[in-house]
Amino acid sequence: MRLRSARPRTAFVGAVLIATLLPLCPAARAAADAAKPGKKKRIFIYWKSGLQAVIRTQEAKIPRIDALLPILKLKKGMSVLDIGAGTGQQSYKMAAALRGTGHVYATDIDPQLVAYMGDQARARGLKNLQPVLVTADGVDPFYTSHKFDLVLIYDLISYIHDRVGYFSQIRRSLNPGGRVVVVGQPEADHYAFVPEDVVDWKGLVADLEREPQGSVFDRELVRQIRSMAGGPLSSVPPEELHRDILFQLNRCLYEDLFANFVDGDDVAPGLKLAPLERPYATWLVRRLRLAGMPGRNTAEILYIELRDVVTLNKLILIQRYRKYLRSDAPHPYIPSGPEGRWITGHNAITRDFRKAGYVQAAKIGFVPFQDVWIFSARPQGPVSGGKGRRTPPR
Ligand SMILES: C[S@@+](CC[C@H](N)C(=O)[O-])C[C@H]1O[C@@H](n2cnc3c(N)ncnc32)[C@H](O)[C@@H]1O
Repeated sequence: MRLRSARPRTAFVGAVLIATLLPLCPAARAAADAAKPGKKKRIFIYWKSGLQAVIRTQEAKIPRIDALLPILKLKKGMSVLDIGAGTGQQSYKMAAALRGTGHVYATDIDPQLVAYMGDQARARGLKNLQPVLVTADGVDPFYTSHKFDLVLIYDLISYIHDRVGYFSQIRRSLNPGGRVVVVGQPEADHYAFVPEDVVDWKGLVADLEREPQGSVFDRELVRQIRSMAGGPLSSVPPEELHRDILFQLNRCLYEDLFANFVDGDDVAPGLKLAPLERPYATWLVRRLRLAGMPGRNTAEILYIELRDVVTLNKLILIQRYRKYLRSDAPHPYIPSGPEGRWITGHNAITRDFRKAGYVQAAKIGFVPFQDVWIFSARPQGPVSGGKGRRTPPR
């Protein structure tokens, strides 16, 4: 795959092009169309490559699932619903953590995955795990005919279009004190590096100058910065140089930088990734491999795949230049800039759950690039700040 396009002359033009043209690409349009009411919904099936490849992809998440378990606060006897459980990796962990008590209902719309989870439940001796085939459209009657203490939505939220309607109904199936836990990417589609992300410009420039000729970062990044500078980097006024560097870093996000760091369907072992970054990067690589990348034509790339490309490229750039970049605890990665931070603070997930009758109990950074939102049902009463809006009936 070459994601490369003609290189605009200035950082400004480039940034505007990325921001304005992206929504016009066929994949982004298809995703937007799918979200419109009345339009036929497109179900994103990414396992054309076969069940084994999907299992391997989702198994990459196991270290992250282990990190998630303490956040879930499972207690013996709980009734747990794992919506869109896929190959069931988190359901197996949750059922095992309940030590034979309670129930874990692992749902999916794909009969092959539901059958696989059933086989696994038997093979693993997880008698409290029940896979359930559900409908892709609306809220399946299974949900409304059962009660749950915990509902997990792991990497599924972007598949649910009418979130307010959907989670208003799920809310009625929560036991008192029940929680909905969402794990996913904050809806900041803008992953660009911004000036504030760089805390040591001098160090970064010196590092770029030292980049060995012919290395990946020389080919993919430094040569382009040099060509914009039109001479040695030291000859360019700092403000202009910083802008050029940011522009080229951000251009790399949309290209196939990642292809240099794919080793089979794993990430290259040499990448300096933090413990929870590596399984996330591996998962992204495997998702992209399932989608036929690298090697796919740009025009065919779905928006969700492009987001995976950008996220993986960002992780690769961060691990290379981490010591010059800001790292805000508790996220040992670079936040996605003012726009991203704003969306993270006031994002659509929080807003939609609020409209659906929930309060946000917590929001936890789940490194890298993901968050965990914990919601509980709001006691009945008017929605604060929402004129005339009422909590949906229970
Ligand atoms: C990205 S995978 C995530 C799987 C798993 N939760 C994980 O984190 O590894 C999304 C899964 O949700 C399923 N799915 C999509 N839409 C769904 C829906 N409306 N209800 C239940 N499952 C759905 C898909 O078939 C797929 O297995």
